[in-house]
Amino acid sequence: TDRYAVFGNPLSHTKSPFIHGEFARQTGEDMRYEAIEAPLDGFEAAVRAFFDAGGKGINVTVPFKVDAHDLADARREAAAICGASNCLKLEGDRLVAENFDGVGLVRDIAVNLGVPLAGKRVLIAGAGGATRGAVAPFLAAGVGEVVIANRTVAKAEAIRDLLGDRGTVSAVGYDGIEGSFDLVLNSTSASLSGAALPIPASAFAGCVLAYDLAYGKGKTPFLQQAEAAGAAQLADGVGMLVEQAAEAFLWWRDKRPDTAPVIAAMTVPLD
Ligand code: ATR
Repeated sequence: TDRYAVFGNPLSHTKSPFIHGEFARQTGEDMRYEAIEAPLDGFEAAVRAFFDAGGKGINVTVPFKVDAHDLADARREAAAICGASNCLKLEGDRLVAENFDGVGLVRDIAVNLGVPLAGKRVLIAGAGGATRGAVAPFLAAGVGEVVIANRTVAKAEAIRDLLGDRGTVSAVGYDGIEGSFDLVLNSTSASLSGAALPIPASAFAGCVLAYDLAYGKGKTPFLQQAEAAGAAQLADGVGMLVEQAAEAFLWWRDKRPDTAPVIAAMTVPLD
């Protein structure tokens, strides 16, 4: 039985053991997946102990994504762009780090929600790790333009400078948002504190999808704002969470699980 785990602190709300348990059952893989709440000052020791005992791979969540990134022996491209990793895999005797959040998000939108991305205009609010991970997958999916809006404009500009050679990327403050967008995403942590964002209503004109990367927070202030401004469809981050897990599972086990029943089991109605 191969061992996997999610590391974080706190971990009381983690859905990862449920998700990977479902994937393992579906695919008949002989594996065990547990939740390990490492002490805040003891992440690296806990990870080393897990792999020394024969562990094959881990997911990493708050607050250890940068520590996981730094302790790895090698980093794949998406992780390198983010500067943070949510997945490690033992390859031979090396720990390799990856970040599947961005690819999971884009797959959820394009495949599960069925929203075509080619040529679309995309607004992403926030310029933290989640946005860092999402921009390259959006550009790879052929979107026409990504506009990153952030309170601290310099953080949005840094992402634009890093990835702007892959497509059309611009960086603005909220007062610099101009025109309307096919997709509007909230990648800030504002939903967690219940705060709204100063996105002008005109940004949502013709919006086919408003997506809040948060999961399990119901109809967040951002989604309420999008709905009031006429966004055609609202989504939270449940599909992103399950899709990034599926990408990790595929990397670890070389089998792509069926995400639809897992997403259905975890979906919380937005109203
Ligand atoms: P993550 O790695 O999860 O993306 P992060 O790196 O902590 O999280 O980034 C949080 C993002 O939420 C940032 O873009 C932050 O804006 P600043 O860079 O200006 O700090 C944004 N954010 C958090 N609270 C916010 C609020 N009340 N209004 C607007 N933006 C907010």
